[in-house]
Amino acid sequence: MRGKLVAGNWKMNGNLASNQSLLKSLIPLLKPISGTRCAVCVPYPYLNQTEQVLRGSGIAWGAQDVCEYDHGAYTGGVSAGMVADFGCRYVIVGHSERRALFGDTDKAVALKFAAVLKAGLTPILCVGETLAEREAGVAEQVVARQMDAVTLHSGIAGLGQAVMAYEPVWAIGTGKTATPDEAQAMHAYIRGRVAEQDMRVADGLPLLYGGSVKAANAEQLFAMPDIDGGLIGGASLVAEEFAAICRAA
Ligand code: 13P
Repeated sequence: MRGKLVAGNWKMNGNLASNQSLLKSLIPLLKPISGTRCAVCVPYPYLNQTEQVLRGSGIAWGAQDVCEYDHGAYTGGVSAGMVADFGCRYVIVGHSERRALFGDTDKAVALKFAAVLKAGLTPILCVGETLAEREAGVAEQVVARQMDAVTLHSGIAGLGQAVMAYEPVWAIGTGKTATPDEAQAMHAYIRGRVAEQDMRVADGLPLLYGGSVKAANAEQLFAMPDIDGGLIGGASLVAEEFAAICRAA
């Protein structure tokens, strides 16, 4: 049975000193929480630091993106194998900020997803519609297109080794959370779409919600039947707030 997972996405925040204090504070705060997996996805340069501090703590860590290629003449690229060297368990792929600001296409996301699986790590595949797409009534089509690009490439069995996160773009960093019912409706749609291809994968797929999750709204969101935890941006940078969200899960 799928359990609960709360993953922090630090985005491009932090430095050696602030990370040290955040990571060290999280260890005692998250220790008493049983039954929920907790993870932090940090910028590449701090993977070594994160591994040094968190190893043996029960808190997992990961990266926020990878290059779709294994190795070679890809200046600035970081491969899935490289992040695996630092003990990562998770890699976020297809975050809307990568799609919108760095030009990640559905195809690139599908290749990155496959590269993460090949390195033996767990992709956290992000999907979600913009406000304009929601208002135009095409939110489900957009999410379906983003999912299908990945399943066409890696098969439905690929999703069986992954985590998915529904992050409506209009709810990210805006303070405007999807209501528990809005989020649940899209989660049920996503799980149903997977179930059309493989019931067992659909049942076991951890499906996170992301977008302005905070301690104050986490419990209601996580109580919904198809919401298995959260992908947390801003609130993951504050140890007490992140721990409270993990407790809510
Ligand atoms: P916020 O929690 O800051 O809205 O960010 C959500 C997000 O993008 C997590 O990946």
